Amino acid sequence: MSKRYTITAALPYTNGPIHIGHLAGVYVPADIYARYKRLTGNDVAFICGSDEHGVPITIKAKKEGVTPQDIVDKYHANIKTSFEDFGITFDNYSRTSAKIHHDTAQEFFKTLNDKGEFIEDVTEQLYDAEAHQFLADRFVTGTCPKCGNEEAYGDQCESCGSSLNATDLINPKSAITGNVPSLKETKHWFLPLDKHEDFLKEWILKGHKKDWKPNVYGQVKSWIDDGLRPRAVTRDLDWGIPVPASGGEGKVLYVWFDAPIGYISSTKEWAAREGKDWEPYWKDKDTKLVHFIGKDNIVFHCIIFPAMLKAEGSYILPDNVPANEFLNLEGKKLSTSKNWAVWLPDYLEDFPNMQDVLRYALTANAPESKDNDFTWKDFQARNNNELVAIFGNFINRVVVLTNKYYEGVVPEASDFSEIDNETLAAIKAYPAVIESSIERYRFREASQELMNLARLGNKYLADEEPWKLIKTDEVRTKTIMFVALQISSALATLCEPFLPFTSTKLKGILSVSSNGFENQWSDISTKNVLLPSGHQIEKGELLFSKIEDKTIAEQLEKLEASKRANEAANKTLEPQKEIITFEDFTKLDMRVGTILEAEKMPKTKKLLLLKVDTGIDIRTIVSGIAESFTPEDVIGKQVTVLVNLAPRALRGVESEGMILMTETAEGKLVFVNPDTTVKSGLQIS
Ligand code: 2FM
Ligand code: ZN
Repeated sequence: MSKRYTITAALPYTNGPIHIGHLAGVYVPADIYARYKRLTGNDVAFICGSDEHGVPITIKAKKEGVTPQDIVDKYHANIKTSFEDFGITFDNYSRTSAKIHHDTAQEFFKTLNDKGEFIEDVTEQLYDAEAHQFLADRFVTGTCPKCGNEEAYGDQCESCGSSLNATDLINPKSAITGNVPSLKETKHWFLPLDKHEDFLKEWILKGHKKDWKPNVYGQVKSWIDDGLRPRAVTRDLDWGIPVPASGGEGKVLYVWFDAPIGYISSTKEWAAREGKDWEPYWKDKDTKLVHFIGKDNIVFHCIIFPAMLKAEGSYILPDNVPANEFLNLEGKKLSTSKNWAVWLPDYLEDFPNMQDVLRYALTANAPESKDNDFTWKDFQARNNNELVAIFGNFINRVVVLTNKYYEGVVPEASDFSEIDNETLAAIKAYPAVIESSIERYRFREASQELMNLARLGNKYLADEEPWKLIKTDEVRTKTIMFVALQISSALATLCEPFLPFTSTKLKGILSVSSNGFENQWSDISTKNVLLPSGHQIEKGELLFSKIEDKTIAEQLEKLEASKRANEAANKTLEPQKEIITFEDFTKLDMRVGTILEAEKMPKTKKLLLLKVDTGIDIRTIVSGIAESFTPEDVIGKQVTVLVNLAPRALRGVESEGMILMTETAEGKLVFVNPDTTVKSGLQIS
């Protein structure tokens, strides 16, 4: 039965591009769900937008020496485009700097304020006197009182997921100056979560929420069991939505107060554009509201936002919040700040027209019930061993044989054998099997069921061997190919939520969209014939291609290189060393030298063995530069040599001096040398 769905995907912060962790945790499962709900005939509003307020944006702007507006404009455009290019089918992608959002959030705040749903209180908050700044949220770090994580933020500990007040932190430290903050009085509006404790217990613990994912239910239960406390919903910041109340001058709404309201304002924007009424999508009891988020957002979507919606009074509450765990990358935590990530815009550039490969790899290995690891090797294996070898291989065989034997025309079937009937019946069962997994938010299981249908096709062909039978039994061969074409047609429809680009390609090959033979999801289980005899298909193209080891090695190297570059860029400069006298300095004998010979030191990764003309002699120097230079790179180069450094043995070779180096922003070593060729042996003074 058709139903109305409001499906939201966490609004990403606009302080960087989207990476694979975001995709696996939120956007790919949300898009599969939205596509599936549309395909099965429901009324869907799939809503998202950029989260443009909050401290992370301000911090990024400070770091880059630009305004927060510059940052959000840049990343809003970047994120929106990469979602579109990746095939994420939001019905609306808005931004929280939009006027409609400011108006909606302020109106929401005023309604709660007018209803007396807030406590106004003057309390002591952390203050950085040097930066003239109150320290909330990510402006302050310290030790989490719950789990001892020393890098907890002022509003949340990302290690244990606890939601915190900045004053809860042990040993707080300003993220702006590094100073220990003082306490200063300021007025704020608080949402008394304790007042909503009974409702939350009733709704989540006693209600039907036991069917929520265990990770979500468990976290929420433990917070409620710990007891809830009032939570400030305003901040002393200058970036955000102004507090619409007297006494609110110079203050803004807490980003986690305004961001979830962004789902509502984005729905309003969409409805206005489409000539629809937004209210049923948020207020009709028959609408199913589903929030797709990562696990660090659970408290906000399962406790704070529902409490806000309940306090307002006219809104529905989420039916489910299928939060995923985290995705790691090559065994390490994904990190924007450490540049340990695979960024979506980079992926789209490096792997053009291969969106479905990443969608599939992330779905088949989704962090649904525990943190999971993305490795480039697994990505390659998912592509080569599953998409190419199972799905693509099956379709290719069917399309090639149909063209070869019947010039692309679907043949007539005669008597179906038992195996044919079983196969045709099995096709009919697949929609329900896949649905059952999707309805339980088990997308990896669903993706494997889809692959099982392709496996079934491969097995059918391998068992029936039409390529042999064509020589002896043309009639039977036709029936086999007819059945195989029915499987192909079912795959074209059922793969759409998971592999949308492949679905479009396959429908093109099977020539169904333009010819009125396109099957709907429900047709797969009800129709006896999905692709009729006499229908002409196209010649086709390969759906997937093999990914070579070299491509994977390049990605691994790229990852390491960007990490190195980031480390170099973030390298804290060493403090100045102790003062020395001019006499001390004159003891250093530094000269321009010319490298005459170079070779790799056997059994070492880092060392090159050099022969250097120092002007006064030709000497041996062992230098740790082999990761940045090949021997050929350095022969003939002029360098600066500290020639009177006491010789020392390195791996059995006496090194008679030191070559001076520094590092580029990418972490590559470079020589400190004269900017024009000079005579070897000239002194540096
Ligand atoms: O964690 C984040 O990236 C937040 N920007 C998610 C916000 S979700 C919603 F409530 F808007
Ligand atoms: Zn913690």
